[in-house]
Amino acid sequence: MGLTAPHDDVAHINDVLDRLLPNVAEVGADVSRLAKAMRYAVLGGGKRLRPRLVYAAGEAVAADAHLLDRPAAAIEFVHAFSLIHDDLPALDDGSLRRGRPTVHVQYDEATAILAGDALLALAFETISSPSVDAATAMRWVSGLASAMGPLGMVGGQMIDIAGEERRLDLAELERSHQLKSGALIHAAVMMGAVAGHARTPPPPDLRALSDFGWAIGLAFQIQDDVLDATANTQTLGKSKGSDENRGKSTYVTLLGVEGAAAKATERLEFALQRLAPLKERGAALAALAEQMVRRDA
Ligand code: IPE
Ligand code: IPE
Ligand code: MG
Ligand code: MG
Ligand code: MG
Repeated sequence: MGLTAPHDDVAHINDVLDRLLPNVAEVGADVSRLAKAMRYAVLGGGKRLRPRLVYAAGEAVAADAHLLDRPAAAIEFVHAFSLIHDDLPALDDGSLRRGRPTVHVQYDEATAILAGDALLALAFETISSPSVDAATAMRWVSGLASAMGPLGMVGGQMIDIAGEERRLDLAELERSHQLKSGALIHAAVMMGAVAGHARTPPPPDLRALSDFGWAIGLAFQIQDDVLDATANTQTLGKSKGSDENRGKSTYVTLLGVEGAAAKATERLEFALQRLAPLKERGAALAALAEQMVRRDA
């Protein structure tokens, strides 16, 4: 791991992902196309914000960093699955992701659907490994499952699609953003937080970390809406203006760029306030939260 703190060590995260993904040479020629597509989706760039949140939350509760490799990888596998399916023609019909063709463009639609399915399964296999303490594994499995299910990412995507047909109001939009993006970000924080639960004196303030996770998740997706309207395709690595082209309801359509940015800032400030009692232990999470909202890609 070297001198870099785990929450900043993207090379380490990439190494863990690489090791846990199926090895193309070992799965058999008949499955190798699927394994290649899974590796293509996960390993081709990305900011690794969710794994970094797992480690930073773990640091806040003095969890052993090496225990966090599996939840960090699992959340990135679920995220990659969500991106593959989000880009499918039936959803956002995206052709560019992380500066490269999306999985269904590079391979084909069937392979993309299956690679997403397989990444989702791999995520749960990763955190339910016999090498993990069973009580901790159960909390990870249950947290990740609810964050991606009907009242998590998948449910949020359903509301997002409805928001192409009619203009969502602010309450509906907030729920859509909380579910489609916020839930996984919140889960990343909580997966790190519960890893240190048994061993931190004083007990970690899970309520504060949970509030932080929800607030930063919403702020993150609001910033995504802002960037879709204001950044350029080259910097984003995905097609600028996708939301407008699809007629999506976003924070920009409802509040304008400045109103959306102000809302993101307000949520960031709330998130940082909730971390304040953790003092130095919350420093890594605070820095990451700033990066997530102040980013330009
Ligand atoms: C993009 O997430 C999808 C959203 C939830 C807005 P990221 O901005 O974290 O994407 P990568 O992982 O860095 O490519
Ligand atoms: C995606 O939101 C949320 C997911 C569940 C993947 P977006 O559709 O805005 O994400 P991008 O802009 O395509 O990355
Ligand atoms: Mg989408
Ligand atoms: Mg999209
Ligand atoms: Mg977007």
